[in-house]
Amino acid sequence: MTPSQSPLRLGVNIDHVATLRQARYARMPGAHHEEPSVIEAARQVLAAGAHSITAHLREDRRHIQDRDIAMLRAESGWLLNFEMGNTPGIVAIAVATRADFACLVPEHREEVTTEGGLAVAEHRKALAETVRRLQDVGTKVSMFVDPEPAHLKASAEIGAEMVELHTGTYANAASGPERETEARRLAEAAVLAHGLGLQVNAGHGITTANLPGLFGVPHLTELNIGHHLVSRAVTIGLGEAVMEMLGVMAAYRG
Ligand code: PXP
Repeated sequence: MTPSQSPLRLGVNIDHVATLRQARYARMPGAHHEEPSVIEAARQVLAAGAHSITAHLREDRRHIQDRDIAMLRAESGWLLNFEMGNTPGIVAIAVATRADFACLVPEHREEVTTEGGLAVAEHRKALAETVRRLQDVGTKVSMFVDPEPAHLKASAEIGAEMVELHTGTYANAASGPERETEARRLAEAAVLAHGLGLQVNAGHGITTANLPGLFGVPHLTELNIGHHLVSRAVTIGLGEAVMEMLGVMAAYRG
């Protein structure tokens, strides 16, 4: 791959590798023939040039399992981003895992995927306590938020080091003025978050097709991308899918 001048880093969310495994082996945990392997997928993603692995241990364990987290953590030399809801059981596992990063998200059992940002301003006290506990074990904390000033300010106030801007609304908007409005909201949020001293990440619904529309968003450090890469993997392979995304990311100049 040609050297990139882009400051963007790629975190690959491998939940859907586990989704595929669970579709067949949910009732045979740890079966000797279960596939696909989450750990092998993570290896391929990093070999192809991605910078970190993201895994979301949901309360309902619909995809990633506790043993996946343990295996991902056991591998040295990887950066692991532990995506999580703010519930006591999950927080206890996150604290014990001592992941490099944690990203706090809202979580509802009925949702298909994370459907919006965290209401940080409304849940300041409970979130501040979790941020502190994670930071005490050396984990750098991110808040997954909609591009709204109140939640960005609250994220900074409770001591989070990063925010991940929710790009799902942008991705789902029809192309044209509606999508441009969403891109502008994200750009304004990025300026505010950066000014508050927060590292600015983004994620949800990002594809090679819609990513260039986000190049006007300044200060982006990391993108977290899952569904598109795992979908592309079915047709072109996981390593190729990662390299294809890094190729598009290379044009971002911050
Ligand atoms: N970031 C967060 C906080 C998410 O919840 C998800 C979805 O699991 C992603 C990024 C990745 O989104 P997608 O799978 O749409 O690329």
